[in-house]
Amino acid sequence: MDYLQIEGIKSLNGTIEISGAKNASLPLIAMTILAKNSVNIKNLPDVVDIKTLLKLLTNLGASCDFEDDKVVVDTSTITETKATYDIVKTMRASILVLGPILARFGHCEVSLPGGCAIGQRPIDLHLKALEQMGAHIDIKSGYVEATAPNGLKGCNINFDKITVTGTANIIMAAALAHGNTTITNAAREPEVVQLCEILNDNGVAIEGIGTAILTIHGTAGKCIDIKEFTVIPDRIEAGTYLCAGAITRSELTISNVEPKHLGAVLSKLEEMGSTFTTTKDTITIHPSSDIKPVKIVTQEYPAFPTDMQAQFMALATQADGVSIIEERLFENRFMHVSELQRMGADITLNGNIATINGKNPLSGTDVMATDLRASSALVLAALVSEGTTDIHRIYHLDRGYDRLKEKLENVGAKIQRLKE
Ligand code: EPU
Repeated sequence: MDYLQIEGIKSLNGTIEISGAKNASLPLIAMTILAKNSVNIKNLPDVVDIKTLLKLLTNLGASCDFEDDKVVVDTSTITETKATYDIVKTMRASILVLGPILARFGHCEVSLPGGCAIGQRPIDLHLKALEQMGAHIDIKSGYVEATAPNGLKGCNINFDKITVTGTANIIMAAALAHGNTTITNAAREPEVVQLCEILNDNGVAIEGIGTAILTIHGTAGKCIDIKEFTVIPDRIEAGTYLCAGAITRSELTISNVEPKHLGAVLSKLEEMGSTFTTTKDTITIHPSSDIKPVKIVTQEYPAFPTDMQAQFMALATQADGVSIIEERLFENRFMHVSELQRMGADITLNGNIATINGKNPLSGTDVMATDLRASSALVLAALVSEGTTDIHRIYHLDRGYDRLKEKLENVGAKIQRLKE
C-alpha cells in the first residue's frame, strides 16, 4: 500500500488545472448503456472510480477504450445484465447501471452496495421509484433482481428525500420508458443537470432541467444516438484546492473551473476572510492575513456541499475563533475528526455537530485516510502542520482526486508518494 508524506508549513504558488468531475462522469458513463452508437466522452478524470465503472461495463460485454482524458464506450455488445458483488462492493455508485440496464434489457441484477464509511446509504428510493415505473423487484442473496419484460412506464415520482444518484438512475430509466415521467424533489446538482442536458441534446426531451421538478419524455424502448461531449469541471476538486490556498495563505489560481458551480463554497471562503479574482473559467484566491471562524450546515445543492465539509473543518482548525459545522446528509461523516485531533486540532463532536476551536497549532504525525473527502482534509491539515505527516490508506484519495500529488507538487508542496 502507498502512503503520502507531506512536509508542512509551506506556502503554495501557481496554477492548478481542475479535471473533469468524477460525480458527473459516473452517471454519464452509465448513460452510454442507453446508446446504440459508440459514445466519445472527453475530460474524464484519471481516477480509480472511473476505471471501476468502465471495468463493470466491460464485464457486461461493452468495449471501453480509455486513454488520457477520453473514453470511447460501445455498449451495443452488452450480453450480461448482472453487476456482481466484487465490483459493486468497491464502488457504491455502481448502482447507477440499474436504471439504464433495466430500461434497455428489461432485466438487471445488481449486488446491494452495503454499508459505507460515511453512513448507511440505503438505495430504497431508487428501488421504490423503479417499482412505480412498473418494475418487479426482488432482493435475493444480496442482489437486487429487477425485471420489466414489457418495458418501464412513465409515472409521477415524488422522492421523499433528495438523492443525487437516485435522481440520475431514474432519469436514465425514464429516458427509455413508455410515456412521460415526472420526478418531484429531484436533485439539482450540476452533475445531474449535465446528465439531463446531454440526454435532452440527444433525443430525450427533458423539461425543468436544473429545477426540482423534471419531466422526462421516454423513447418507448428505443436506444438513442449520443454525440461526443465534455464532462463539466470537478467543483469538489476545485473547492479542495481553494481550501489549500486559504489554509496556506497563498496566491493560487485554479483553472478549467465553472465558478457558478462553487457559489456556496466561495461564499463561505469569503466569510472566512478570503478574497478572489474570478474569470469565466479561473478563480484566483489571494493570501489573507486572518482566517475567520465560520458556521456551516451541509445541504443539497445549491447549498453547502457535504463533499466539502471535511476540507472546511481542516481550514477551521486554523481560524481565529470557534467554528460550528453541522452535517445534515450523512450520519457518520466525521471520521476525519479523530485524525485531525491526533494532529492537534481542538474539535468537539455532539451528534452531527462539530465545534472547532481554531488556531491550535497542528503537528505532523501518522494519520489514516478513512474516505475520499476525509483524506483530502488530512492533506490540507498536513500542509500547515509542523514537521512531516504520513497519510496512510490513500487508496481513498486515488478513487476521486486526479493526480493530487503532482498537482500540489507543481505549486510548491513538498509531497512524496511512498510504499508502506
Ligand atoms: N438516501 C436514502 N435512500 C436512498 C438514497 C439516498 O435514504 O435511496 C439518503 C442517503 O443515505 C443520504 C441522502 O439520502 O442521507 C443523500 O444521499 P444521495 O443519494 O444524494 O447520495 P449519493 O447519490 O449516494 C452522491 C455523491 C456523493 C455525495 C452525495 C451528496 C456520487 C457518485 N456520489 O452520493 O459523493 O456526497 O451525492 O451530495 O455522485 C464523494 O464524491 O466523495 C461522495 C461521497
